[in-house]
Amino acid sequence: MSSLLCCSTAMCVAIFLLQLRSFGVSLSHPYRIIHLPGQPNVEFNHFSGYVNVDDKNNKALFFYFVEAQQDSVSKPLVLWLNGGPGCSSIGVGAFSENGPFRPKGEGLVRNQFSWNTEANMLYLESPIGVGFSYSTDTSSYGGVNDKITARDNLIFLQNWFVQFPQYRNRSLFIVGESYAGHYVPQLAELMLQFNKKEKLFNLKGIALGNPVLEFSADFNSRAEFFWSHGLISDLTYKMFTSVCNYSRYVREYYNGAVSPVCSSVMSQVSTETSRFVDKYDVTLDVCISSVFSQTKILNPKQVTETIDVCVEDETVNYLNRKDVQSALHARLVGVQRWTPCSNVLDYDLHDLEIPTITVVGKLVKAGIPVLVYSGDQDSVIPLTGSRTLVHQLAKELRMNTTVPYRVWFQKQQVGGWTQVYGNILSFATVRGASHEAPFSQPERSLVLFKSFLEGRPLPEEF
Ligand SMILES: *[C@@H]1O[C@H](CO)[C@@H](O)[C@H](O)[C@H]1NC(C)=O
Ligand SMILES: *[C@@H]1O[C@H](CO)[C@@H](O)[C@H](O)[C@H]1NC(C)=O
Ligand SMILES: *[C@@H]1O[C@H](CO)[C@@H](O)[C@H](O)[C@H]1NC(C)=O
Repeated sequence: MSSLLCCSTAMCVAIFLLQLRSFGVSLSHPYRIIHLPGQPNVEFNHFSGYVNVDDKNNKALFFYFVEAQQDSVSKPLVLWLNGGPGCSSIGVGAFSENGPFRPKGEGLVRNQFSWNTEANMLYLESPIGVGFSYSTDTSSYGGVNDKITARDNLIFLQNWFVQFPQYRNRSLFIVGESYAGHYVPQLAELMLQFNKKEKLFNLKGIALGNPVLEFSADFNSRAEFFWSHGLISDLTYKMFTSVCNYSRYVREYYNGAVSPVCSSVMSQVSTETSRFVDKYDVTLDVCISSVFSQTKILNPKQVTETIDVCVEDETVNYLNRKDVQSALHARLVGVQRWTPCSNVLDYDLHDLEIPTITVVGKLVKAGIPVLVYSGDQDSVIPLTGSRTLVHQLAKELRMNTTVPYRVWFQKQQVGGWTQVYGNILSFATVRGASHEAPFSQPERSLVLFKSFLEGRPLPEEF
């Protein structure tokens, strides 16, 4: 193949130099990935490795950076963060949702709807203890909280810009999902503070998918979602909204003292909803091998699905291969295996109750565009809570509706619904999408992402 394109060594060198200039990042960059095992040939560069986030070099965060497929120099930089707290932006975000590849069998296949068609994508495993990120002082895994996470993420980016100086001034967006409803606004707020001293972050907007923004509104919308989708009975719905609601249960749970009433309500809820329904998408089939992963019962002959519901298992297998880790410049420090969500991180769950919708309000007031979007099949952080929170915020800030609640289109089908306030605060649903919207509705999510980057309302017609 390559001999067809390059007839002589001199020509190869010329092509190399051309690429060097057009990409901006040197091909001999120490973080550059030469080739991932089983990876199809691609026209863009990707990079990964560690960036230290403290002076003593105890703490290092791992990133995977994928340049845009075409014309990376003119495309924005997007930082992507998954939630948890404690889940991996590389395993979940890059390899299951919107990255360029999906693990399949022994190798990787291309994701046609990868977000690097529109942007340079930076996936960060954060905080320490998540994925390949580590601290050599394991005591620092205890009591990690929102404040520490935001500060470490800020320091990460500052230091990352030293390694990738050509991205310093690039339009920057931060996008995240789930508990990143805490990480993203908090990091954005720190950036604006930092910019007052030194204008480093060219922040152009944030987007939050099925985000945790306000404890009570987000967690208590679950009951109605279960009930309206037929997952629980009328009687159980009544108990789940009067006897013990979900926010009370969660609070009791992380305080280590679940009351007998909450325990009995939750056990009824779990029995009726069944573990064979994916709470992150009540319409999607579950990956049987994941459900039974403890007992190792496999069902290899599942009905073929267009969405590979077992992608998480494939990712775990792939990222635990030694050849893959070595190609990624990754190492396991203090853990035996790479896991999608951390087993060593001890996050302070009291921070769940910090309302970040107020931080979103501050960002909007500072002129930063915000998009809150919801995969509408998710029962974990349902669209109803997010929609109410955005609407209330707009009201508080006295912002008028600039795009009335309406459908938006992807090709000739309805991709979801949207509403925009004051041309700066947007809400959108993604129809038929899970908690991880780009995983289950990749094409619709890409339309949403493109509109967000361009600062345009979602397509009104087809
Ligand atoms: C960043 O942009 C500003 C204004 O557009 C310019 O003055 C500055 O030189 C740029 N810095 C870098 C490192 O390119
Ligand atoms: C949930 O329960 C708590 C504690 O019982 C209560 O204070 C709160 O108002 C309830 N929230 C909703 C939305 O029902
Ligand atoms: C919002 O709409 C009202 C009524 O049309 C108008 O009086 C007000 O000026 C608008 N506010 C803004 C911020 O545009």
